[in-house]
Amino acid sequence: MNRRYRKTLIAGNWKMNKPLTEARPLLDGIKQRCSKARWCEVVLCVPFVNIPLASRLMKGCRISVGAQNMHHEVSGAYTGEVSAAMIKSAGVKYVIIGHSERRQYCGETDELVSKKVRLALENDLRPIVCVGERLEQREMGITLEVVTLQVKAALDQIPAGQVRKIVFAYEPIWAIGTGRTATVEQASEVCKEIRAVIRKKYDARIARSVTIQYGGSMNADNAKELLGQPDIDGGLIGGASLDPDSFNAIVQAANQ
Ligand code: 13P
Repeated sequence: MNRRYRKTLIAGNWKMNKPLTEARPLLDGIKQRCSKARWCEVVLCVPFVNIPLASRLMKGCRISVGAQNMHHEVSGAYTGEVSAAMIKSAGVKYVIIGHSERRQYCGETDELVSKKVRLALENDLRPIVCVGERLEQREMGITLEVVTLQVKAALDQIPAGQVRKIVFAYEPIWAIGTGRTATVEQASEVCKEIRAVIRKKYDARIARSVTIQYGGSMNADNAKELLGQPDIDGGLIGGASLDPDSFNAIVQAANQ
C-alpha cells in the first residue's frame, strides 16, 4: 500500500453465490463490521440480481457496490445480457472486467476486455480489470509477458486522463479458490510489473496513482503481509468475502 499516491481498495467478489434471501443477512453482517474503515475503500461485487438490495442497504455508508461483469455493447438485441448503463443506474460504482473465470468459461478475450473497459469508463464506472497467468505459464517462466500483454490490451485507446480510474487486480489463476496463495515475492513482482507497464505507456505520475490489487486465496492470515508490500494496494476477495468476520479481518488489515 502507498496511501500517499493512491487508494487502498478491498473488493469482495461473491461470484455466483447468495440468492436474495441469503444476501440480506450477509450484507447486514458486512455493513455492521466494515462500514467504519476509514483508510480503505470497501466494495462488494454482488450478482446482478442483488445489486438493487445492496445499493439500498449500503446507501449512506462507506461501502460501495460493484458488479461482476457487463456486456461490451451499449444496448440492443443481446438476450440475457446486462449493460453498463443498467448497472450504473442501479447504483454500481465498480465493475469487475475480464475475471479469469469469464476468460476461461465464457471465452472473454483481451479484445473484449478492452471494449468493456472503454465502455465502463464512458458510463462513469470504475473497472477492476483482472489479469493473471495459468499455472503452466508460470512454470514456463512467462508470467510477466502474459500479464504485460493483458495490461496493454486493457489500456488500449485509454487516454491518460482516465487511467487512474482503472483498478488492476493481479489474480494468478492457480491461486484462485485453491487455498494456494502466491508468495509475497511473486505477488509483488507482478504488481510492480503492472505499474511499470503503465509507467512506460503513460508516465510515472499516472503509474503511481493506479490502485493494483492482489487476488487469489487472500484471507485473514495472509492479508497483512501481502498488503504491506508497496505495490499491492488492496485485494479482490472471493471465498473470504462470503463470511463477514473473515472479510472484515482483511478490511482491518488494509485499514492499518
Ligand atoms: P478466492 O479468494 O476464493 O481465491 O477468489 C479470488 C477471486 O477470484 C476474486 O475475484
